Amino acid sequence: MEYTLTNLKGWRVVLTEQGAAVREIHVPDKDGKLIDVALACGSSEDALVNDSYFGVSCGRVANRISNARFFLDGKEHKLTANIHPQILHGGTPGFSHLPWTAKKISDKQITFTLHSPDGDQGFPAAVDVSATYSWSEDGVLGITYEAVSDAPTIVNLTNHTYFNLNGQGEGSILDHELTLKCEYFLPVNEIVGVTGEIFSVSGTPMDFNAPHKIRERIFSDYEQLKCAGGYDHSYVISGGGSRFAKVVGDKSGIVMEVCTDYPAVQLYAGCNMKPTNGKNGAKYDKFGGVCLETQYFPDFINQPTFENHILRPGDVYRHHTDYAFSTI
Ligand code: BGC
Repeated sequence: MEYTLTNLKGWRVVLTEQGAAVREIHVPDKDGKLIDVALACGSSEDALVNDSYFGVSCGRVANRISNARFFLDGKEHKLTANIHPQILHGGTPGFSHLPWTAKKISDKQITFTLHSPDGDQGFPAAVDVSATYSWSEDGVLGITYEAVSDAPTIVNLTNHTYFNLNGQGEGSILDHELTLKCEYFLPVNEIVGVTGEIFSVSGTPMDFNAPHKIRERIFSDYEQLKCAGGYDHSYVISGGGSRFAKVVGDKSGIVMEVCTDYPAVQLYAGCNMKPTNGKNGAKYDKFGGVCLETQYFPDFINQPTFENHILRPGDVYRHHTDYAFSTI
């Protein structure tokens, strides 16, 4: 099932129960024309198996967990690796590839819920999660993730929308201009798993504190970019709450700004995208969209240098992210 959130100006967001996903975001460009800036599969059948994670809610634990295992309160938990030896985005199927249950609250708000049983993909504890999407008169898409569990476990939920601010299927995002108010990023190894180190962006092509086109340095001879095939890294968000990220569509003049209460964001420039049939006959390829996936530090459970986040019975996991659209 699809659900539409709309404002009085007709700007709208289409969401699906499958994956509690964003399927369409229609916002005006600099000439006032509505443009769909979110990528999605051409058909719902494709969405069931697609491994690009277009628009979906990733969980139980987004991003990679090294060696697909972790220890919690002294006990080892073995997970189902889906990119051997790691587990990515909660396994197969993760929350991204499951049907959630929708409850539309108003034209501007909807909540999707999902129950994940104890042992799901190897994760301990039964977990109940929700994703609440809101859409405002001034073009702010809000996403709140909540979760509770019946025993200690880990949860890290993120939305995986690929944005192309020139319009979905309108080529690459390489000429989009990006600003990321982040002083540090998390370096990765040759399988794009975090090393546990925290590097300064200063003096590197990872530094987006001043605006840069994504293309400008993505192909530079810098080990971290070679490892990941481009930008596929988590950044540490220092100015939590404020708009730390800004993306500008070079042709459309559409601007997207992001704020969140999560401590990190995965900048993924679509480096691993393969030729794909998208919505309405659109064709996607490498760099066809950019994701700004807000979350905890990846693999925090196995990295002693990262802050740990255990969800225990009685605790409520709750995180909020806003994607705000405007024009230059
Ligand atoms: C990861 C990429 C991965 C992509 C699609 C992103 O969140 O960082 O490494 O290729 O998801 O699976």
